[in-house]
Amino acid sequence: MNAPIPAGAMRAPAEGRRTARHEGFLGHRRFFWAWVALLATAAAVLLYALDDPWPRPNGGTALGYALGTAGALLILWLSLLGLRKRRYTDGQWSLKAWVSAHVWLGLALGVIATLHTGFQFGWNVHTLAYGLMLLVILSGLLGVWLYARLPRRLSANRAETSERAMAATLAENDRALKEAARLLDDRSAALVEAAIRGPAVGPTLEQRLSGRVRRCATAAARARLDATDPALETVAALLGARAALLAQMRRHVQLKSTLQLWLLVHVPATVGLLAALLAHVVSVFFYW
Ligand code: HEM
Repeated sequence: MNAPIPAGAMRAPAEGRRTARHEGFLGHRRFFWAWVALLATAAAVLLYALDDPWPRPNGGTALGYALGTAGALLILWLSLLGLRKRRYTDGQWSLKAWVSAHVWLGLALGVIATLHTGFQFGWNVHTLAYGLMLLVILSGLLGVWLYARLPRRLSANRAETSERAMAATLAENDRALKEAARLLDDRSAALVEAAIRGPAVGPTLEQRLSGRVRRCATAAARARLDATDPALETVAALLGARAALLAQMRRHVQLKSTLQLWLLVHVPATVGLLAALLAHVVSVFFYW
């Protein structure tokens, strides 16, 4: 006999819309910051092309200093996003506007700083600062791609709520499964019990990042139980709902872990860049 299923136990996981967390942050206010960045880049390239003498020596000309100052100020401002992210304001200077400006001006910085170097590179602190800047910019591009893949429900302030909601649905499903398993034969009941006890998300970093769980007990139970047996109808349905929920939880953790890993590159590289920038400026002005 099939046990009645409590409401909510088989609730299908809400299909997360694959909308970006910063939906449209690249095109915020009709690509306002993209245009600002493009104009700044074009102005820098034009001034560089018209500058005298040719070939450019390095950042030591008047234009070199101007581009260097603009680049350093941009780096300082871009680094402030870490602080800005932790405060809430709306409107013109919303986080969305900041991230939009951050991304586009960050890309313009790549061109401005390259022109500032005069294409002179060597094994020194100046090139180290330049290299770290490129690392931050390139990792930033990766970040844009990652954020564009984040479902809306994984947004910073809702991630915990959605995690709690998923855990609550799973607990409800498991209660119903336990109840239904009491009517099963020993072998089937053991499979269901193992499924309930199995880890919802992978315990290792590799499994969290891949979104998979090795030897998933829920998948094993689904494969081994005879779904055509009418006595197992309820259990099979509950296990199906459990598998769908686990897939959603694993994807959630996968995106969250990937993002944390990304921050572990972008932020420390920023700190390194700020240190190298300071060394670069100090050495230019005091030891040149
Ligand atoms: C030298 C240039 C850059 C510096 C110093 C910099 C620095 C930072 C810092 C400090 C954060 C905040 C991280 C946190 O605490 O959570 C951040 C976030 C971010 N950066 Fe950059 N960044 C630079 C360039 C770029 C570029 C060029 C891009 C994209 C093409 C980019 C994309 C992002 C994204 C998507 C975030 C996450 C924003 C969010 O969480 O809302 N960054 N960056």
